[in-house]
Amino acid sequence: MDKLRITGGRPLEGEVRVSGAKNAALPIMCAALLTERPLALANLPQLRDVSTMGKLLGQMGVGVERRDGGMTLQASEIREPTATYELVKTMRASVLVLGPLLARCGQAKVSLPGGCAIGARPVDQHVKGLEAMGATIAIEHGYMHATASRLRGARIVMDLVTVTGTENLMMAAVLAEGETVLENAAREPEVVDLARCLTAMGASIEGAGSDKIRIRGVRSLGGAEHRVMPDRIETGTYLAAAAATGGSIRLTGAAPESLEATLEKLREAGARIEINQSTISLEMSHRPDAVGVRTAPYPGFATDMQAQFMALATVARGTALITETIFENRFMHALEMQRLGADIKLEGNTAVVKGVERLQGAKVMATDLRASAGLVIAGLVAEGETVIDRIYHLDRGYEALEKKLGALGARIERVS
Ligand code: UD1
Repeated sequence: MDKLRITGGRPLEGEVRVSGAKNAALPIMCAALLTERPLALANLPQLRDVSTMGKLLGQMGVGVERRDGGMTLQASEIREPTATYELVKTMRASVLVLGPLLARCGQAKVSLPGGCAIGARPVDQHVKGLEAMGATIAIEHGYMHATASRLRGARIVMDLVTVTGTENLMMAAVLAEGETVLENAAREPEVVDLARCLTAMGASIEGAGSDKIRIRGVRSLGGAEHRVMPDRIETGTYLAAAAATGGSIRLTGAAPESLEATLEKLREAGARIEINQSTISLEMSHRPDAVGVRTAPYPGFATDMQAQFMALATVARGTALITETIFENRFMHALEMQRLGADIKLEGNTAVVKGVERLQGAKVMATDLRASAGLVIAGLVAEGETVIDRIYHLDRGYEALEKKLGALGARIERVS
C-alpha cells in the first residue's frame, strides 16, 4: 500500500493552481440524474471520489464521458436507481443520488452509509425532508427503499445544518410539484454552486447561500454547461502549510471570498495575506502565533480545516484551543501528531495545543481525508523523515498533492 515520505524543515515557496472543489463536484455530478439532456462540467478535480461518483452514475446507466479537466454526463435513461453498500461505504456522498433519483424516477434504493472514522453520520434529515415531500422510505437490509409518485413541495425545517442534506432536498425539490421552502439550510458555497448549476438547467431557486432556500418545482430540466467552483479546503490547506513552514506562496484560480474565516485565522497567526481577484499570496516571516478555532457551519470556521490548523498550532508560539462542534470523533490526528512530538491534550471536544519549537519526523497513520492533510503539514514542519501510511484517504480529496507540494519545494515522495 502506498505511503508518503516527507523530509521536513523546508519552507514552502512558489505558486500552484487550485483545483475544482470536490464537495461541489460530487453533488453537481448527481444533478445530471435530473435530466435526460447532457450536463457538461468543467474544472472537475481529478480525484478518487470523482471517479467513484462517475462509476456510481455509470452503474445506473448514465453516460460518462471524460474530457481534459471535465466530464459530460448524460442520463438519457436510468436503468438501475441503486447505490450499493460497496460504493456508499467508500464514499458517503453517494447518498446524494437519493433526492435526484426519487425526483426523476419515483424510486431509489440507496445503502445507509453507516459509521465512518469521524463518527456516526446519520441521514435522518435527508429522510425526514423527502418524507415531508411525499416520499415513502422503508429501511430494509441496510438499504433505504424510497418511492414516490410525484414529489410535492413542502416547508421543511431542518433540525440541524447539514450540507449534503440541504443539497439532496434541493435536488429533489427542483422537479417537485409546487414550492418547497428549506429552513435552517446549509449556507456553504458548495450549496450555492449546486444551485447555480441547477438554475442553468432551468430550475427556479431563490436564497441559496442563506438559511432559507425557496424552490419552485418545474416539470423538467434541460442540459447545461457548468464550471465547478475552486476548492476552498484545498486552498486553505496549502495556505496553512505555507504558514506553518514559514513560507511564501501564491495560489491561483482560488475563490478568496469562500474562505474568509480561514484567511482571518491565518492573519491572526501572523501571516501577511494579499488578494488579487482569484490569486491569494501568503507570506509568513516568523514562527506562527497560536490561534484558537471553533468549528461551525459556514460562514464559521470549517471542520474540514480543523486538522490543518491543529498542525499549525503544534509549532506556534503559545497555546491554542481547538474545538470541534460538527463531528464527535474528529481528533484522531491529534494522537498521530503526538507521535511527532506535539504537545496536545484532549478535553472532550476541545484540544489544548501547546506549541513546541520543533516536531520530529516519525511514522504515522492517516485516519481520514482531512486528518491526513493535517499530518502532511505536521510532516512538512517536522525535523527529519515522516512516513504517512494509508494515504488513499488523501487521494480521495487532494489532486496531485505530491506534485503540487513538490512544486512548492517540499521534499515529498510516494513510496510503495
Ligand atoms: C459535508 C462535507 C464534509 C464536511 C461536512 C461538514 C460533502 C460531500 N462533504 O458532509 O466534507 O466535513 O459537510 O461541513 O459536502 N447530521 C445528522 N443527520 C443528518 C445529516 C447530518 O445528524 O441527516 C449531522 C452529522 O452527523 C454531522 C452534522 O450533522 O454531525 C453535519 O453533517 P453534514 O453537514 O450533513 O455533513 P456532510 O454533508 O455529510
